[in-house]
Amino acid sequence: MKKLIFSFVVATFMLTACKDTSSTSQTSQATTDTEEVAEAAPVSNEVEITIEGDDAMKFNLSEIRVKEGQEVTLILDHVGKLAKEAMGHNWVLLKQGVSLSDFAAEAIKAKDNDYIPEDRMDDIIAHTETIGGGEETEIVFTAPAKGTYEFLCSFPGHSAMMQGKFIVE
Ligand code: CO
Repeated sequence: MKKLIFSFVVATFMLTACKDTSSTSQTSQATTDTEEVAEAAPVSNEVEITIEGDDAMKFNLSEIRVKEGQEVTLILDHVGKLAKEAMGHNWVLLKQGVSLSDFAAEAIKAKDNDYIPEDRMDDIIAHTETIGGGEETEIVFTAPAKGTYEFLCSFPGHSAMMQGKFIVE
C-alpha cells in the first residue's frame, strides 16, 4: 500500500513537472518575440550570406534578400564530395535584363575561365570562382540598386536547377 501511495506522489510530481515545462516554453516564446522586434531596428551596412551547393546539383537557397548599398560577403560552400570537374559550382549574379539561359549557354564554352565567359563580363555584377566538393570560396561586393536580379551556377548543365532570385530592397 505504501508503494502505491509513493507511485501516486511520483506521478503527481511528474504532472507538475510537465506543467512547469509548458509554462517555461511559453516564457521562451515571449522572449523570441522580443528578439525579433529588436532585430528589425538597425540595418547593418554589412551582410554575410552563405549559400550551399551539393552533389545533387542544388543550391540550398532559391532567394537571397539584401539592402541596397550593403557590403555583401557571399560565401559559397560546396557541401558535396564530387570533384570540381564532375560537379563544379560557382555563384554568378547577373545584371538586370540579361537572359540567364543565354548566359548559361555562353558559359559552357568558357571552361578555361571557370565557366565565366570573358566577353560577357559586362553582364555580371559579381561571381565566385568554381569549386569542387568540400571547398569554400567567398566574394565581397556592394549590393546594386533596388530590384530583383538572378543568380546561377554557370557550370555546364547546372543553371536549370541551380538558379535563384537576388532581391535588393
Ligand atoms: Co553547379
